[in-house]
Amino acid sequence: MKRTAVVTGGAGGIGAACAIRLAKDGCDVAILDVDGDQARGIVAHIQGLGARAAYYPCDVADRHALEKAAAATAEDLGPADILVTSAALIPNAESVLDMDMDRHERMWRVNYHGTLHACIAYGRRMRARGGGSIVTLGSINSILPLPLPAYNPGKVAVRRLTELLAVELGRHGVRVNCVAPTYVLTRGLQEKISAGQRDLAKIMASHALDALPDPDDVADAVAFLCSPQASKITGVMLPVDAGWGAAVSYKSYAGGVPWEDV
Ligand SMILES: NC(=O)c1ccc[n+]([C@@H]2O[C@H](COP(=O)([O-])OP(=O)(O)OC[C@H]3O[C@@H](n4cnc5c(N)ncnc54)[C@H](O)[C@@H]3O)[C@@H](O)[C@H]2O)c1
Repeated sequence: MKRTAVVTGGAGGIGAACAIRLAKDGCDVAILDVDGDQARGIVAHIQGLGARAAYYPCDVADRHALEKAAAATAEDLGPADILVTSAALIPNAESVLDMDMDRHERMWRVNYHGTLHACIAYGRRMRARGGGSIVTLGSINSILPLPLPAYNPGKVAVRRLTELLAVELGRHGVRVNCVAPTYVLTRGLQEKISAGQRDLAKIMASHALDALPDPDDVADAVAFLCSPQASKITGVMLPVDAGWGAAVSYKSYAGGVPWEDV
């Protein structure tokens, strides 16, 4: 059956991979983003696959813009069956005491409130229809402290919001889950590695597998959670973390495990 999927942040990185993957799975796709050039490129790519797609300019920090977008996507593509909230700002490390407070507040407005606004705008419509699937983008930051004072607690909040919504919407046939990637080999990360701002070998050292996920790996997990195969799964956080969650504490044992093959 034809489904309609809405992806915030669908113009770039993981969101774009999700938009393309859901189109391949038979969805019409709405992309909500602030980057029109990138978004139109993804829309053209999806249309080239033979699916319907459209771009809606939308700053997710603005709840009125999300309400407008939700009404417009319903009008153009039909009611949303799937919502993926991928829009976010991704920071570099900084200390709590010395951070830039304007950047901090903007990051909360986009990353947490943007997720909340999208879930409210589309969740209410899904509740009224009695069905749907929402997938939020958490992170390994949803699990443990990392030195990103706005982003890290924001991703903990996204995880908790996912759980609250899963309970509120469960009896209305709406499932709400979270995908939590480790460092993903997006173009952004690849550029930082090439510029010497990130050391791939050091990042890899805290993982169990010897490969990082790429955006398509994350999109696979999102597509699974939206599929009928996940019909009894709600309120969970699914790490796509190459074993980071298991390895990060194991490998820190006594300052580093005494054998070299892990
Ligand atoms: N890249 C990683 O390593 C990684 C790891 C874990 C979790 N995540 C999460 O995955 C999601 C996607 O990350 P990504 O790496 O694809 O990021 P990205 O920067 O490649 O893409 C983010 C998209 O969001 C859009 N966006 C930014 N601000 C917006 C706003 N105010 N309103 C609407 N759209 C906006 C951007 O234009 C862009 O298209 C984010 O929630 C991020 O926190 C990323």
